[in-house]
Amino acid sequence: MNILQINSSARADGSHSSRLAGSIVERVQASLDDSTVPAITVRDLGRTPHPELNESALQALFTPAEQRTPEQAARVALDDALIDELKAADVLVLGVPMYNFGVPAPLKNWIDAISRAKVTFQYTANGPEGLLKGKKVYIALTRGGQYRNTPSDTQVPYLRTVLSFLGMTDIQFIYAEGLAMGPEAEQRALASAQAQIDELALAEAVPA
Ligand SMILES: Cc1cc2nc3c(=O)[nH]c(=O)nc-3n(C[C@H](O)[C@H](O)[C@H](O)COP(=O)(O)O)c2cc1C
Repeated sequence: MNILQINSSARADGSHSSRLAGSIVERVQASLDDSTVPAITVRDLGRTPHPELNESALQALFTPAEQRTPEQAARVALDDALIDELKAADVLVLGVPMYNFGVPAPLKNWIDAISRAKVTFQYTANGPEGLLKGKKVYIALTRGGQYRNTPSDTQVPYLRTVLSFLGMTDIQFIYAEGLAMGPEAEQRALASAQAQIDELALAEAVPA
């Protein structure tokens, strides 16, 4: 059993999304039987950002492996490491703040790195097929305002679309909203998010 936690807040200390993601990991751990000791990997994209998908990275990716320069091979290897880490995970937990109505840029860079044709998805005669199957995904969303179930919430449809495209269709979202709407609203939002975590239906969700 491998659990992969990905934090994407720019904040090293005081990040609500990273803390809630950690709380989800603890909840998953607590749901396991005593004989199962999970391996937990925490990747903090704020502390160790992944490079963006720029022109030289694209050139490296589209150059056949045996023809890559050492620099190109090194760039592709960075993406390979993220793909291998994700492939090995049974459970993926994402901490995702809302930044200017979207996901943090480091998380977008991570998504660009893990989305690779013929490795994590492929096109067949029937259309696209995600190759990262059998994973359970939990996503802790933190927002200063309140956007759940509104057209301004582009994060949820985006994350659902791209993760499902890669084969990760079993996704549960945990919301902490209104964090910038005063201390009382903040406390209510965090208590609500923790309650959502406490109530997660894990028994049926965690792979054996
Ligand atoms: C640069 C920046 C942009 C933000 N943009 C939004 C936004 O578009 N909508 C919103 O509701 N909150 C926005 N916020 C508030 C954050 O979503 C909120 O503070 C959240 O708790 C940050 O996550 P963290 O606690 O994990 O760092 C923004 C915060 C920052 C720093």
